[in-house]
Amino acid sequence: MIGLGYVGAEVCLAAAAAGHRVAAIENDAVRLGELRADTHKADNWTKIRRAIADRQVDVCDTIEAAPPADVWIVAVATPLDADRHPDTSHIEAAARALARVVTPHAVVILESTSYPGTTERIFLPPFLQQGWTPGVDLFVGYSPERIDPGNREWTMQTIPKLVSGCTEKCAKTIADFYRTVVDSVHPMSSTAAAEMAKLLENSWRLINITFANENETLCTALGLDAWEIGEACRTKPFGYHGLNPGPGAGGHCIPVDAAYLSHFARSVDVSTPVLDTAVQANTERPAVIARRVRDVLADTAAADRPARVLVVGVAYKSDIGDTRESAGIALMRVLHQAGTEVEYHDPHVPTLRLPHGGFRSVPLTAGTAEEYDCIVVTTAHAAVDWEVLKYCTTALIDTCNAAALIARLA
Ligand SMILES: NC(=O)c1ccc[n+]([C@@H]2O[C@H](COP(=O)([O-])OP(=O)(O)OC[C@H]3O[C@@H](n4cnc5c(N)ncnc54)[C@H](O)[C@@H]3O)[C@@H](O)[C@H]2O)c1
Repeated sequence: MIGLGYVGAEVCLAAAAAGHRVAAIENDAVRLGELRADTHKADNWTKIRRAIADRQVDVCDTIEAAPPADVWIVAVATPLDADRHPDTSHIEAAARALARVVTPHAVVILESTSYPGTTERIFLPPFLQQGWTPGVDLFVGYSPERIDPGNREWTMQTIPKLVSGCTEKCAKTIADFYRTVVDSVHPMSSTAAAEMAKLLENSWRLINITFANENETLCTALGLDAWEIGEACRTKPFGYHGLNPGPGAGGHCIPVDAAYLSHFARSVDVSTPVLDTAVQANTERPAVIARRVRDVLADTAAADRPARVLVVGVAYKSDIGDTRESAGIALMRVLHQAGTEVEYHDPHVPTLRLPHGGFRSVPLTAGTAEEYDCIVVTTAHAAVDWEVLKYCTTALIDTCNAAALIARLA
């Protein structure tokens, strides 16, 4: 496994559970140190730390230092660069290093999400330059990872795996490997088709989340409860697949993948106005919430001091500690730029470094909750003490229907 991040950890655990001998390569010394650490802290990394401690998964820090392998899986990050354009540099670097150490008849699979053409135009060329022939002495292909961190119902093993190869033989070999790990595989005709499928499913979510957010803004203006309306629409047994509104879609997948697709469409001169609008609207969503906060503060904050706001939840989704592309953090930034004093509470994110300073999660108690002019809930973690919010008198803006959790408290 190359890259021991959110995806790499799940793949290693699934492959080890299937009886394979697994080694993982992670070149970030800090992450590797945390994974090797003997700690009792319970977090997203507990299972993989235990697997490393029990030697079910061996770890090393460079591809060159890795033991020889029959199957290599690459799941390195594919973020956006400073201009919010695709950054495939980690894929390129991993492929260059891997092409120098693979052995004949190895299976080499890219799992990172990227735009159509990445496997054959970016990932494969270093292997060709080293003299390998796909389908003959090396089996190269693409299989997008579809895990949903924190989801206990659908796991790497139970989510159908899309598989593809640079040749038919590559595709078959890769499908045979994944059949040993997951319950079902779905073969595709080309690596580009599998790359496109991954971007489509996540872009679909972004478009529908931004539509739900737009509808929430409209309902709020009309004094209607968007959650009640969404629940009513879902009673229609067919044809409606509406998603829930929120503070903006975050994470390394949904907003990033839609930006990859939008960028790719522009590069081939195809106009995608629906997608582009969704990408833009999602970026602007935290500013919409910030305007709502300012309206509340106009009524609640003292005039002789900066307003104080507490953001509850800076992880991008509930019950995990991943803060990438987090709407809660974007909201903190917008509010800070407007001169507001902002702090946060998140049981899964003890500390946070933002461009304007370092933060620590403040405890959420009956006493601390009263110290703010407004509390904004951006992630509904089960581990938040919702009882505190049920009884506090501070103005509350609830972007993710934490009210349902609060109401359930006796
Ligand atoms: N996080 C998710 O839920 C999720 C779900 C589906 C797909 N994906 C996709 O999977 C890919 C990986 O995502 P992630 O969330 O696991 O990212 P991540 O940043 O958590 O993990 C990637 C890891 O790869 C390491 N790395 C990078 N280059 C390396 C190299 N040359 N050698 C060794 N290690 C290297 C990094 O240090 C990092 O720890 C991305 O393309 C992402 O879009 C992610």
